[in-house]
Amino acid sequence: MVQTPRDVEGDVLLEGVTRRFGAVVALQDVTLRVAPREVVAVVGPSGCGKSTLLELVCGLQRVDAGTLTAGRAVLMPQRDLLLPWLDARDNAALPLRLAGTGKDAARAEAHTLLAELGLDGFERSRTWELSGGMRQRVAVARTLLSGAPILCLDEPFGALDAITRADAQAWLASILDRTPRTVLLVTHDVEEAAVLADRVIVLSPRPGHVVADLQVGVPRGPAGRSPTDPQIVAVRARALEALRGAMA
Ligand SMILES: Nc1ncnc2c1ncn2[C@@H]1O[C@H](COP(=O)(O)OP(=O)(O)OP(=O)(O)O)[C@@H](O)[C@H]1O
Ligand SMILES: [Mg+2]
Repeated sequence: MVQTPRDVEGDVLLEGVTRRFGAVVALQDVTLRVAPREVVAVVGPSGCGKSTLLELVCGLQRVDAGTLTAGRAVLMPQRDLLLPWLDARDNAALPLRLAGTGKDAARAEAHTLLAELGLDGFERSRTWELSGGMRQRVAVARTLLSGAPILCLDEPFGALDAITRADAQAWLASILDRTPRTVLLVTHDVEEAAVLADRVIVLSPRPGHVVADLQVGVPRGPAGRSPTDPQIVAVRARALEALRGAMA
């Protein structure tokens, strides 16, 4: 087993990675390269190892076989872990504070980013005063403020209604356009995958392995892409077909 953190900013490379939990093989022989600043969506059936993959990339788990090298990666977990005793601004500022930034400077930076994410006026709100979509913005702000070149987003918009979700996709596209990062985005929504990503990776049912690696081929702009763009529709269809094929 080789798993070394690399200084190569934003690079992710998995070669023949297998991860087991006792008798359960979660991921098997996964090979995947993500280039710096590339946005890669990962789709696959429930339990196929998507969260496990992100946790491996973030160094929260160890590979059992194969090799994994990645720059510094931060996870936005499937369940948002905002702290209820902090307001939106201090939740977002947390990674800056943990890295030693002074309180005022950290809050100022968080304030600016929250405003960019449309949360102007809600910086002092407690988490329970925010809607689901607003909480996700705070969680994404916190992930971005970690400063890590690689972001692992695990179903960031899974709990949102369709309109809020489309809105969230638009602001994520916009923020990634302005401050490019390497992104691994897990989603169960193949349309979301095709709209947001440069590439869509389809995993088989457990043990998860890569059954399709689809280039989207439409540039990501500041405004995001339209789900009705014929190329997006085509990628969505191919991803669905690969999923169906893997589950048959
Ligand atoms: N810490 C753990 N201990 C034991 N088994 C685990 C652990 N983490 C994950 N697993 C198992 O590994 C498999 C993959 O889990 P994982 O959470 O990565 O799936 P997933 O693709 O993210 O699923 P979902 O779409 O439901 O979120 C599952 O069978 C799960 O039970
Ligand atoms: Mg998961």
